[in-house]
Amino acid sequence: TAATVAAGMFTATQAVAAEACDPGEVVIKFSHVVSATGHPKGDFATALAERINNEMNGKACMQVFPSSQLFDDDKVMEALLLGDVQIAAPSLAKFEAYTLKYRVFDLPFLFSDMDAVNKFTQGEKGQELLGAMSDIGFVGLGYVYNGIKHFSANKPLVTPADAAGLKFRVQTSDVAVAMIEAMEANAQKLAFKEVYGALQTGVVDGQENTWSNIYTKKFFEVQDGITETSHQLLSYLAVTSQEWLDSLDPEVRDQFITIFTEVTNDANARSSAINEANKQKIIESGVEVRTLTPEQRQQWVDVMKPVWGKFADDIGQDVIDAAVAANN
Ligand code: LMR
Repeated sequence: TAATVAAGMFTATQAVAAEACDPGEVVIKFSHVVSATGHPKGDFATALAERINNEMNGKACMQVFPSSQLFDDDKVMEALLLGDVQIAAPSLAKFEAYTLKYRVFDLPFLFSDMDAVNKFTQGEKGQELLGAMSDIGFVGLGYVYNGIKHFSANKPLVTPADAAGLKFRVQTSDVAVAMIEAMEANAQKLAFKEVYGALQTGVVDGQENTWSNIYTKKFFEVQDGITETSHQLLSYLAVTSQEWLDSLDPEVRDQFITIFTEVTNDANARSSAINEANKQKIIESGVEVRTLTPEQRQQWVDVMKPVWGKFADDIGQDVIDAAVAANN
């Protein structure tokens, strides 16, 4: 029941910092940058740890480190290779140092909704992309969804012309930089944990993110409002190292993968509802959420969509075509 799930999640959340592993258990450290609760990735990590710690007790033990308390997304990949953590789930926008193929997920106005995203990730090309970093020793375990992103700024944004000349924080993604520059605005790459301070002090004027990131990290408190541009996906790749996976007993590895897959499917089915709940909380706070008419939205599309052409060679036209086809 919902009550049981809620109670269980509460227990796991409490245990996040304190989870002590027993001697002989495989220790699985999962480092991420978002809030521990009320967020698609935070809730995913909590649910995964809870199931592993219950069902694999004596064999394996998961410790979750949320809110950038252990590593930023740029450091966590090195930490995976060094064996300092075993699981990470950075945004697909943040893998440019390792593969350019994931740029497909960052193309503005590519997916019409999360069903299309699901169709693409579960299809042939999406599944192939899980292995795009195998030459470096990384294994993509699966896609964990957040949702669709929207723009916010310290002044009202209705058309892209309103954004001209402003400075926007972006993830470490050249697609995002190109998208912002197409709006005749300036892009600044910053780590997630620096965004609130940068907005508050005026280092940047605006940002783009999902409802869950905007609410749980309080960005809405230091912005004029949020404009429902729905311009781009934010999804994560849950990633580990081949070396670590190979080091596990086959039985432990199989059980881990089975639990991982079940928890991922469950989390992905709930991600849109979690974002919607965060949107409602922002609206209730009194901060303005602006919706666009179809004509206004088309202006954003017209300005940003041409950046696709710059990245088609990196991604591969076959991959782009498969993603576009997922909208049908
Ligand atoms: C961001 O940096 O804005 C996001 O990638 C953070 C996250 O993990 O959702």
